[in-house]
Amino acid sequence: MNEKQKKLDSLRREIESDKNLPLSTNLVFGEGDIDCKILFIGEAPGEKEDETGRPFVGRAGQLLTKSLEEIGLKREDVYITNIVKRRPPMNRDPLPEEILLYKPYLTKQIEIINPVLIATLGRFSMNYFLPDAKIMKDQGKLFRVKDFFVYPILHPAAALRGNTMMAVFKESIKKLPKAVEKAGKLKSTK
Ligand code: URA
Repeated sequence: MNEKQKKLDSLRREIESDKNLPLSTNLVFGEGDIDCKILFIGEAPGEKEDETGRPFVGRAGQLLTKSLEEIGLKREDVYITNIVKRRPPMNRDPLPEEILLYKPYLTKQIEIINPVLIATLGRFSMNYFLPDAKIMKDQGKLFRVKDFFVYPILHPAAALRGNTMMAVFKESIKKLPKAVEKAGKLKSTK
C-alpha cells in the first residue's frame, strides 16, 4: 500500500477513536483518487451519505457526478470529502464548534492528498478558507490561500433550487479545468 493511503487510513482511525468529536452518526471520511488534482470539499454529510458512509451520493451528489461527467471527469478521478465528517441532526447547518473540532482532521487530510486545487462546494466550505468571501460574488474565481488554491463553487443542492442557480453552478464546473491548469502553473512557479 502506498504511503498516502497508509496516512489516510491512519487518519481515519484517529477520527474514529476521537471521543471528543461531536455528532454520533456514521463517519463519512471521503473517497476518490488520493493522487487527484481536484479535491472537492462540501459541508457535511446528509441522510444518504450517513446511510452509505460515502460523500455526495444523494440528489446533490448525483448532480455533482453528472456535471463532472459533462466536462469529461469521472467521480473516481477526483477526491470528495466534507468539512464536518458526520451528519448534523435534521441536516441542520454545521455549528462553528463542530467545524472547529473537525478542522485538524481536514487540515491533515488536505496535507496528505496535496491537490492542485481545492474546489469548495457551498458557502460553509468557501468561508472555511476565505472567511470574508461572498458566495454569489466569489464563486467561479481562483484564490490562493497559503499553499493552496481554492476555487469556490455553489453547493449542488443550491443549484437544484432553480434554473439561474443551476446555470451558475454548471458554468463554474465548466471553468474548472482552466482553473486547475492555472493553479498548477502557479503552484509550480511558487
Ligand atoms: N452535502 C454536503 O455538503 N456533503 C455531502 O456529502 C452531501 C450533501
